[in-house]
Amino acid sequence: MKLIHLTDPHLVPLGAMLFGFDPAQRLRKTIERINRDHADAELCVVTGDLTDEGDFASYVLLREVLQELRVPARLLLGNHDSRENFVRAFPGEPRDENGFIQSVHDGSAGRLIFLDTLVEGFGHGSLDDGRLEWLLARVAEASDVRAYLFVHHPLQPIGLPHFEPWSTENWRPIMQAIVSAGNVRHIFHGHVHVDVGGTWSGIPFSANRGVAHQIIPHFTRRDADFVEDAPAFDIAIIDVDGVLVHRFEVSDRHVVEVSAEGWVPEGMQ
Ligand SMILES: [Fe+2]
Repeated sequence: MKLIHLTDPHLVPLGAMLFGFDPAQRLRKTIERINRDHADAELCVVTGDLTDEGDFASYVLLREVLQELRVPARLLLGNHDSRENFVRAFPGEPRDENGFIQSVHDGSAGRLIFLDTLVEGFGHGSLDDGRLEWLLARVAEASDVRAYLFVHHPLQPIGLPHFEPWSTENWRPIMQAIVSAGNVRHIFHGHVHVDVGGTWSGIPFSANRGVAHQIIPHFTRRDADFVEDAPAFDIAIIDVDGVLVHRFEVSDRHVVEVSAEGWVPEGMQ
């Protein structure tokens, strides 16, 4: 199963700018690259902060920009989003029985579970009001297959003081429950605007710097420096043996082609 993990496009209304750049233009360039090189992916998951201020006009713009994407998309919400305006713009996106933007996709390599950690008006994340119970039920009913989680807020620490006030509340019991379930193989998250990956009690996680602005990681400072680096997205290759995550930068770097003439794939000699 080939997946695309895209995050934090932070769209603003048409004609507006964010920190002096155009987020929609950055998303368009990213989509062009995906269409060119990865149109064979099964799904493109966007892990939240779809817009910067949650306004309806930005979701309308997002809808327009995403029409160019040749891979089916699944959209998650982040702390910068508005559930109400998202649903107005994307009424067909799946929701759980409580109205949260949570759903599953049973794909060729297992069950993908999409979470909604948005707490309207706040920066931190939560799985309260039945969201954690929904997650654990979806994991349990697929106990005979591998499960992969997609979420905006990290469910585990990432070691950066800047994000401590905006982490997921009660993250430790949530992670302990996920570990106990026994079949969760990877967590893909957004929110942090840095490239980071690791494990928590044996559960691997990964996040990329995203489409909009990036943050320079500081391990002791609470404040943060925002920069405009090249947008990035991840390609995840998932099979029965495990998960591979490749990061792609959307830049105009100079490319030198190396001929593969005479090259024979391993095992074919
Ligand atoms: Fe963000």
